[in-house]
Amino acid sequence: MKLGRRSVCSFLLFFFSAALCLFFFHNWKHSVPRAASTLWSSPLEFSKLNPQLAPEPQYAHIPFKLKEQIVGLLAQNACSCVASKGGLGFSLPFQRQVHALNFTSAYGSEELVEATIARDREYQAFQSRVQSPADQILIAPANSPLQYPLQGVVVQPLKTILVPGLSLQAAEQEVYQVNLSALLGTWDVAGEVEGVRLRGEGQLELTLSSLELDRLNRQLQLITYSSRNYQPDTADTVRFSTDGHEAVFTIRIKHPPNPRLYPPGSPPEGAKYNISALVTIATKTFLRYDRLRNLIASIRRFYPTITVIIADDSEQPEPVNGPYIEHYLMPFGKGWFAGRNLAVSQVTTKYVLWVDDDFIFTGRTKLEKLVDVLEQTSLDLVGGAVREITGFSTTYRQLMSIEPGGPGWGDCLTQRRGFHHELPGFPDCVVTDGVVNFFLARVDKVREIGFDPRLNRVAHLEFFLDGLGSLRVGSCSDVLVDHASKLKLPWVPWGTEAEMYTKYRYPGVTDESNMAKHKLLFFKHRLRCMSSD
Ligand SMILES: *[C@@H]1O[C@H](CO)[C@@H](O)[C@H](O)[C@H]1NC(C)=O
Ligand SMILES: *[C@@H]1O[C@H](CO)[C@@H](O)[C@H](O)[C@H]1NC(C)=O
Ligand SMILES: *[C@@H]1O[C@H](CO)[C@@H](O)[C@H](O)[C@H]1NC(C)=O
Repeated sequence: MKLGRRSVCSFLLFFFSAALCLFFFHNWKHSVPRAASTLWSSPLEFSKLNPQLAPEPQYAHIPFKLKEQIVGLLAQNACSCVASKGGLGFSLPFQRQVHALNFTSAYGSEELVEATIARDREYQAFQSRVQSPADQILIAPANSPLQYPLQGVVVQPLKTILVPGLSLQAAEQEVYQVNLSALLGTWDVAGEVEGVRLRGEGQLELTLSSLELDRLNRQLQLITYSSRNYQPDTADTVRFSTDGHEAVFTIRIKHPPNPRLYPPGSPPEGAKYNISALVTIATKTFLRYDRLRNLIASIRRFYPTITVIIADDSEQPEPVNGPYIEHYLMPFGKGWFAGRNLAVSQVTTKYVLWVDDDFIFTGRTKLEKLVDVLEQTSLDLVGGAVREITGFSTTYRQLMSIEPGGPGWGDCLTQRRGFHHELPGFPDCVVTDGVVNFFLARVDKVREIGFDPRLNRVAHLEFFLDGLGSLRVGSCSDVLVDHASKLKLPWVPWGTEAEMYTKYRYPGVTDESNMAKHKLLFFKHRLRCMSSD
């Protein structure tokens, strides 16, 4: 059959307009606001549906009318990912499709239970590390007539919350009135209490008035705040007032902390931790392949499956092979901190153990102990001790502080040997600011601080200086690693490699690179000088 050109055109036109009608009908159906009509006289029934809105007992008898549009904005802790339904069996070109992925189906059912339990445990640990008492809700009881939250009220950018703790405790008067005002968000109510007059819903200022104090107070429990500016990590200063009294508090506007969790692996029988699943060993090498091979051999005696990452900026690199070894080559002489950054960037476990390439593991290099300290405390990094050939061991504990130096000149860095206090529960450990080159650290925290690649030769404490104020550092004297000697023995001839290593690694004080470092400290940290013992 041959269709005329005209009939094809009109068929297409008909088809297209029908599709358009369907599309608009579909969207209209979903955008009609539901009427605010439910009257909840039974608070019990209601609070089962939404525990956030449950009244305090003394106001339980006061009925209110739910405002569904606002209630719908409150977080319900029951998210789901729903794909758009291709109801017509096909999608129109201008209709945005939503796809949904279900991550849980990547697991077998038993595996899923295990992963969920392990993930919950890691999440709890994460939560207790990122939260501080300043995040808790504190209500100031009414000693002026106003009761309000002192701190702890948080809203996500552009989201809505119920504001907790608002109340008026005034002496008897004819009309009770309170005002709320905000700068970055608007006020509304999740339900309307009969006998309370509201002015300014959906605006920066809201006025509530009532002849009965109880009703006003019930209404105050239903106040919502909606963030209106997309400004994460800021705060709105809001005012809550009644005749002659004003209280000011802040509502913090921020996203919840975004966890980065690592599967801890199942521990071998009789052990507390699966070290290979939790720890990666990282080192930086430059020319010293014999020492590096000794280090790796010593690690393998105690930790046969732990991953070792090597950053190497030698001029003529030699291969370093073996299972669980990653060897990264860098441009020649790229430097100490650049190598540390590269190595740390490749770690996929929760913790990284930093070692120098001339260390040797022994029976006293107990990584389990260091892992235990970081798992049980809020520390981010814990150092061990390095034992020299003489038998002495050093933890190199350093305290650092910055004294203000006034305008113009910059501040003074003070560095002293020592520690702040002992670490409760770990008799051989202390809390300090800087430690030796042998430490276990949370990978995310080390990445956050980073090793400034501008420091290419002489640098160690600079990392701890960068971390000062945010990195929580500990040091344990009972976890030791041996140090292959640095001593120059007169009967051992020095090869050119050793000479070259020394030239790069230990430049004299007048050397250009030291001057560059002083300039860096002067500028970057706004320092004028430094003293140390
Ligand atoms: C995701 O998959 C799991 C198991 O495969 C299933 O039990 C669950 O109902 C699914 N969830 C959704 C939201 O589709
Ligand atoms: C509340 O605000 C209204 C309108 O801005 C004002 O007239 C009233 O005096 C204020 N009341 C209190 C108690 O601050
Ligand atoms: C420890 O973790 C590693 C890496 O996740 C895994 O391959 C190994 O089987 C685990 N060890 C035990 C004893 O479960």
